[in-house]
Amino acid sequence: MVTPRAGAALGLALVGLVLASLSGSCHGALQVRFYNGKCGVMDVEAIVASVVAARFGKDPTIAPALLRMQFHDCFVTGCDASILLDGKSSEKTAPPNLSVRGYDVIDAAKAAVEAICPGVVSCADIIIMATRDAVSLSGGGRYKVETGRKDGLVSLASNVDLPAPSISVNDSIAAFARKGLTVSDMVLLLGGHTIGVAHCSLFQDRLYNFQNTGKPDPTMDPSLASALRSTCPNQQTSVDNIVNLDQNPASSSIVDNSFYKQILARRGILQIDQEIALDKQTKDLVGAIAGSFDFSARFGQAMVKLGALQNGSPGEIRQSCRAINTARKQPPSKEEQRTGQMGWTGRTRRGGGDLRALSIHKRGSSD
Ligand code: HEM
Repeated sequence: MVTPRAGAALGLALVGLVLASLSGSCHGALQVRFYNGKCGVMDVEAIVASVVAARFGKDPTIAPALLRMQFHDCFVTGCDASILLDGKSSEKTAPPNLSVRGYDVIDAAKAAVEAICPGVVSCADIIIMATRDAVSLSGGGRYKVETGRKDGLVSLASNVDLPAPSISVNDSIAAFARKGLTVSDMVLLLGGHTIGVAHCSLFQDRLYNFQNTGKPDPTMDPSLASALRSTCPNQQTSVDNIVNLDQNPASSSIVDNSFYKQILARRGILQIDQEIALDKQTKDLVGAIAGSFDFSARFGQAMVKLGALQNGSPGEIRQSCRAINTARKQPPSKEEQRTGQMGWTGRTRRGGGDLRALSIHKRGSSD
């Protein structure tokens, strides 16, 4: 028999549980066409798509740039646009992010949506929508994206835990598992290397001195290694050439399963790409994808799963994708007038977040 006092306590506990689960779903709830009706009759996804299409028309390499950007954003502290924040030790200053491109197209898409609908669309969602459009324009089919993310308040280079190109399959599986992604997700997402390029410096060891053997990587097709040595000479020069990640010249800018066929033929560029075609944990799936016709659909599903990574931290809809909405409304101080430095104060309206990386924000800094 439950006493009135115990009943009241139980009731309170239940209310608490319901509230906790509700607030949890506020952080995590993503949905397809979240922005429908949130900007009057305007279609947010169409506005982003038109910006991406215009850019793609001039420069199709924006597609691999955006695809990589989504991976680098979502893998580190969830898909919160933390990669977009400027700052002297923000994520974009971490070595794996130094060659990330496409920040300007995200800025352009943000400007376009802000013009019709200020303060509604997050930069984190713009990365996801723009990447979907870029994949679709590159022949990868059009998957439905979920939206409703908030932009993060923190961006620290020290948070960047992206895998290195020489990572082993075991370690890569573990790194993806730490983010809640399975072996299949990993193999499908590595299919992102169906487009885009890699710099010689990131796989040079495979051509000349693999694992200090003084010889090329024996898993690489010798004729490919020989061809790559002419693009990537073994001298110290300031030039770091690039080569296609998908070595099928007819398909190196098309999102399709040809990358898997290439790695099965020992024509992978990055060590991890080649290894997934050889490791017993992944090779069957690589073979299945190479021989199937549903790569686009499965890749789209994996991208949606990558896009669902969130860290549960507080967020906001940023005004500029490059800076948190820092309250900086007061006139410059005497010190700032003297030094000419119009620094941001590093305090948010919400007063939260670790802003060590964001104490100075330079508007309009280039990529
Ligand atoms: C173990 C996981 C991964 C590793 C070690 C890795 C590593 C790399 C490296 C070293 C490059 C060349 C960068 C450069 O030369 O500047 C690259 C490029 C690229 N990566 Fe990955 N990557 C991984 C997973 C992914 C995933 C999951 C995606 C997308 C779903 C992705 C998409 C891309 C794209 C599209 C490029 C070409 C970028 C361009 O042309 O601008 N990568 N990756």
